[in-house]
Amino acid sequence: MMKTAIQEEQNTMQLDKEMMDRNLALEVVRVTEAAALAASKLVGRGDKVAADQVAVDAMRDALNALHIQGRIVIGEGERDEAPMLYIGEEVGDGLGPKIDIALDPLEGTDITAAGGPNALAVVAMTDEGGFLNAPDVYMQKIAVGAGVDPRILDLDAPIGDVLNKLAKEKGGRVDELMVCILDRPRHADLIRDVRASGARITLIGDGDVSAVIATTEPDTGIDLYVGSGGAPEGVLAAAALQCIGGSMLGRLIFRNDDERARAEKWGISDLNKIYRTDDLAKGDNVMFAATGVTDGTMLRGVRRFAGGAKTSSIVMRSKSGTVRRVEATHDFKRKTWVKSA
Ligand code: FBP
Repeated sequence: MMKTAIQEEQNTMQLDKEMMDRNLALEVVRVTEAAALAASKLVGRGDKVAADQVAVDAMRDALNALHIQGRIVIGEGERDEAPMLYIGEEVGDGLGPKIDIALDPLEGTDITAAGGPNALAVVAMTDEGGFLNAPDVYMQKIAVGAGVDPRILDLDAPIGDVLNKLAKEKGGRVDELMVCILDRPRHADLIRDVRASGARITLIGDGDVSAVIATTEPDTGIDLYVGSGGAPEGVLAAAALQCIGGSMLGRLIFRNDDERARAEKWGISDLNKIYRTDDLAKGDNVMFAATGVTDGTMLRGVRRFAGGAKTSSIVMRSKSGTVRRVEATHDFKRKTWVKSA
């Protein structure tokens, strides 16, 4: 009898938690909408610092309205370098479930300042301990969308070999593949080797979270993302892949002892470890939301008009596999409490 009562209570608690998670997954989109709306005011204004700052302010306000005991794991930097949304900062009303948060209020600060494509506001959440405490260093990354055997991914094999395997997996030829790479001098050899393999390349100026996600959507035409970018962005991209499908590998790159010391401070002992999707963001209960700031492969940017704006967002949950696209119209005259409008 006693056991049944305990079991029943556990079941009820499980259902309550499931309900809370489902609601949170819907609420989280307000957080990215707020940041995107704020940043959209500064699109093309040539001031990336100001654009980032307004996005941070708006995201923090929106996070603090959530019924969670949130802790930032991937944020704007360490406490001494970021006054807000720093790693370890607690957000939310402090009453709900314990949640770890990875965020980038403005992924693509340069893009926003220049009015280019693919700037996003991004947040991912999971249960305590679910995200890698990635230091702000570079990460070597390689990612593919769902339906491709993750075992073809390799950070050490020649890129031509990986592309041959990918073409076989997709039932096509290497010259039909499109590879997305950040346009950086450090990628010159990689670009040369991809070209030598016969595959095609899309070079992007910034924004590799959106580039990794693009591999999951056949409409984008992007088959593989490869190259080095920010490690925090690697965790955010992995969170998205856990929800939408796809896989990646990542390895931290250290340019000096200071960067190595940062990693050790966050508990990373094996500095050469190759992280799989699941190591970057544990799969069972990840939520991911993004709102477009400027038009991109995945989302339209904020469209502002007199007295309001329209936003396009994506919200996903790994547990249910639900991917929602949220088109919102915001009336600034009624939303007087929204500073970011
Ligand atoms: P920010 O939004 O912080 O400017 O990052 C943009 C970005 O392109 C990321 O998407 C990417 O991971 C990183 O910068 C690459 O770093 P770098 O510009 O130093 O090559």
